[in-house]
Order: sequence, then C-alpha cells, then structure tokens
Amino acid sequence: MAAVQGVYSRATLEGAVATTEHVIPGLEGVLACDSAISFIDGQNGTLVYRGHDIHHLAERATFEEVVFLLWHGRLPARPELANFAGELVAQRALPPDVVRIIELLPAWAHPMATLRTAVSAIGAFDPRQEEVGPEASLLKATRLVAVLPSVVAAMHRVRLGQAVVAPNPDLGHAANFLYMLRGERAEDDEVRALDTALILYADHELNASTFTARTTVSTQSDLYSAIVSGIGALKGPLHGGAVDEALRLFQEVGGPEHADAFAERALAAKRKVSGFGHRVYRTGDPRARHLKLMAERLSRASGDTRVYDTAVALERSMFERKRLNANVDYYAAIVLSQLGLPLSFFTPFIATSRVAGWSAHVMEQQANNRLIRPRANYTGPADLPFVPLQERG
Ligand SMILES: CC(C)(COP(=O)(O)OP(=O)(O)OC[C@H]1O[C@@H](n2cnc3c(N)ncnc32)[C@H](O)[C@@H]1OP(=O)(O)O)[C@@H](O)C(=O)NCCC(=O)NCCS
Repeated sequence: MAAVQGVYSRATLEGAVATTEHVIPGLEGVLACDSAISFIDGQNGTLVYRGHDIHHLAERATFEEVVFLLWHGRLPARPELANFAGELVAQRALPPDVVRIIELLPAWAHPMATLRTAVSAIGAFDPRQEEVGPEASLLKATRLVAVLPSVVAAMHRVRLGQAVVAPNPDLGHAANFLYMLRGERAEDDEVRALDTALILYADHELNASTFTARTTVSTQSDLYSAIVSGIGALKGPLHGGAVDEALRLFQEVGGPEHADAFAERALAAKRKVSGFGHRVYRTGDPRARHLKLMAERLSRASGDTRVYDTAVALERSMFERKRLNANVDYYAAIVLSQLGLPLSFFTPFIATSRVAGWSAHVMEQQANNRLIRPRANYTGPADLPFVPLQERG
C-alpha cells in the first residue's frame, strides 16, 4: 500500500471500497437502514410510533398496547390485547437462579451492570437461546418485556436487604412494576404516570443503543445478545445514563434562585449539562412536555416542589442563554424520583421500556438482514519496520 505522510492514503482506501467523501463524526444524519417503526421530525419536534403521534399514545394508550403496536405494526383489537397482556403476565416470574445471581453481585455494582448480567443470564437459561427465527424472537421479546420489571424490582429489594416480591397477576404491567418495587399497591395516578413514562421511552428510532442492538443481530446473533448490547450502550451518560445525572444536577444547582448563575458557569465552561440538547430534536423533545406535566403534578401532590421549581428555572435559563431545550430525561428524573425509584435505578427503568423498541428493531433487522460492517478512515502510521523484541531494549 502507498503511504502519504506516514498514513495510508484515502485514495488507497477508495481503491478498495466505495467510501463517502469524508468521515461523518457521530454518524450524524447518516441513514443506516430502512425502518417502519418510529419517525422523528427533529425540526418540528414530532415523534411517531408506527404512524401514531406520541401525544395520542401518551395520553390514551397503555404500555401493553404500545408494545403490540411496535411489534405488529398496528394497534391491537381488544381480544388481541387481552391475549398479549395475558402472555406478559405469564412470563413475569424471575427464575430463582437469576435472583441468586443478583444477590451474588456486589451492592456497589452499577445497577446497569447488574441488569446487563441478569438479562444475559436469563438468555443463558433459555433452552431456545440459539434460535433466531421470527417465532423464537417474538417469544424472547415477550419474555424480556415481561420480566425486566421483575429484575429491576428484585435488584432494588436485594440492595435494601428486603425480600423479593413475586409479581401480582391481577395487576397490569405498570401497576405490577410499582407493586414489586414497593411491596404494596400504588395509587392510580402513580400507575398512570409510570405507564406514560414507559410509553414515552418505548422507542426512539436509530438511537445509539438501538443501532447497537441491530448491529449485534446483523451478525445472526440472537435477540438476548442484542438486548444485552443495547443495555451496555444505554448505560452511558450521553444516552440513558443522562436521566440519573439529571437528578444529581438539580441537587448540584441547589434551588431555583441559583439556576441563572449555574447556567452561566456551566455554559462558560462548555460543560454538557445532562437533560439538555439532542442530536435530532432542534426545537424541543415532544416527550418532555408530558414528563414535565407529570413531574409538576406528582411534586405538588407530595407537597415538595423545590426540585421541580429548580428544574423549571434552569430550563428557562439554559434556553435564554443557548436556546437549549430540555430532553426526555430532564423531567423524567423528577417523575421517577417522585415514584420512589432510587437514583441510579432510573436508567434501568428506561431499559424496561426500551426493550420493546430494541426488540422491534431486532425483529425488523432479522426480517431483512445484511451484516452491518462499515469502514474506518485509517489515520495510523504506515510501513513501519518490524524490530525484533530482543533489539527493542
Ligand atoms: C445528546 C447530546 C450528546 C447530543 O450531542 P450532539 O448532537 O453531538 O450535539 P453537540 O455536542 O454537537 O452540540 C451542539 C451545541 O450545543 C451545545 N450543547 C449540546 N448539548 C448541550 C448540553 N447538554 N449542555 C450544554 N451545551 C450543550 C454544544 O456545546 C454545542 O455548542 P457549540 O456549537 O457552541 O459548540 C448532547 O446534547 C448532550 O451531551 N446532552 C447531555 C446528555 C443528555 O441529556 N443525553 C440524553 C439525550 S436524550
């Protein structure tokens, strides 16, 4: 290969493969696949699942309906929904061996690391783990949507030194989730808030974790492996991890009266403030509106609005200074904290919802697969002489 200034030339690479003109940092704006699952209009701030506006779904659907919609491309008829909800109820129980694995892991492990390990174990216990056909993937996806709340609730209870609560078959998905976390039934408005949050997080086009999951199954690996990969990608603070950081942020700001000074300092230091900005949305994240309303309602009901007031003041300040909008994670942090989830369990909560979208994308990828294997623009040295070990000093 010819070397130009010590680096293989682009011409060399172009001789071997058709390339784009230049590397696109972060693959921004790159269309990497066709998908009929969700659509984001970043300029107008809209999000659509399978043709349905997210606002309609957030206000009127249940999570179970939305999962069916994402997987089958249409809203379920009543008997279909009853059947699907029954399948989810039947798949909720956590194998005792998986509970033991959760107990074995250190309490100081990041909850996303524990979740990643538990989901991997659930896959390893499935005798059909190697099957990648549509029927097997749908079964695995159903199993994971059903069981992930049980995993997160068990993780929470084990850390508190409390007994793991068995799922209650009389309760819907969101109500049972809160029941397993708390060991008692939640109020209706709390259940609705959690259900809405689950709907809002269920899918988001080709975000980093979804792309990761699709890449994993593009090698003909299985759905469990894809979900474990997705959990790994979601963990990062630029993605799902931002929701944990957002609550820490409100604590750091210290109150609405400090919001302006905080925003001034953070922007001057070019700090990425968690819960603000988005790669695709340029005029606001449509999901944030619902979470803001729920955060306000739950904060008022609890009689403590200081964190909410801090968030509102900082949102205003960041917008005035840099036209930055709050994203989905910003007010979700308050909603989840008001619902009693401990900090650092917020990102695992998102995984219990996004597993629906990851699975939809995995099944779409499997139905029309081509190995995802892009190229890198090599920037390292070329033509270096090999010096034997004994001559290297
Ligand atoms: C989501 C995120 C990674 C998108 O990053 P991106 O598309 O690469 O955006 P950029 O980093 O190019 O940002 C564009 C501009 O807005 C600024 N900006 C973007 N997000 C910001 C944030 N959260 N805080 C402060 N400034 C921010 C950047 O500094 C940059 O300013 P500049 O043009 O003056 O240099 C980024 O907004 C971020 O880190 N947000 C915080 C983490 C978060 O909330 N993630 C969850 C997303 S749902």
